Amino acid sequence: MVLLALAKSAVRYPSPPGHEVFVANSRGPETLSALAVETGATAVPVREAVRGVDLVVVTIPLKNVASLPADLFAGTPAAVVVVDTCNYYPRQRDGRIEGIEGACRKAGGSSSSWAGR
Ligand SMILES: NC(=O)c1ccc[n+]([C@@H]2O[C@H](COP(=O)([O-])OP(=O)(O)OC[C@H]3O[C@@H](n4cnc5c(N)ncnc54)[C@H](OP(=O)(O)O)[C@@H]3O)[C@@H](O)[C@H]2O)c1
Repeated sequence: MVLLALAKSAVRYPSPPGHEVFVANSRGPETLSALAVETGATAVPVREAVRGVDLVVVTIPLKNVASLPADLFAGTPAAVVVVDTCNYYPRQRDGRIEGIEGACRKAGGSSSSWAGR
């Protein structure tokens, strides 16, 4: 199994035996070299990180989800599980995001349904 984590908090632990873990951020893999050494994860560019993986964990400030490439998951098979750990903090960090506010007014709507789009 291959696991991708966008951002660092998901990979603060050593990569589990038998699993290959990739990590990416917005500044490029060279800025994650210390984390890669610490954890055994492989630092890669964001676009490379979602290729050929079984599980994707997106764990970045929620407001930054909008800055991910719009076609990031265009070639990702439907069977790949994408976990969104992001929290919505409109007052403290993210500002008011109208797409989320609108989604939350609908039955079953959530910040994850906004992030998923
Ligand atoms: N569900 C839970 O239990 C739980 C617990 C803790 C945190 N969270 C949520 O998880 C998310 C991350 O939390 P955190 O504490 O790890 O935040 P953090 O310390 O601010 O980590 C942010 C990371 O995201 C990267 N990043 C930012 N923008 C990016 C982008 N556009 N593309 C790729 N990487 C990007 C940053 O690297 P660069 O700046 O170098 O790009 C940094 O490594 C937040 O939404 C937080 O609310 C959830």
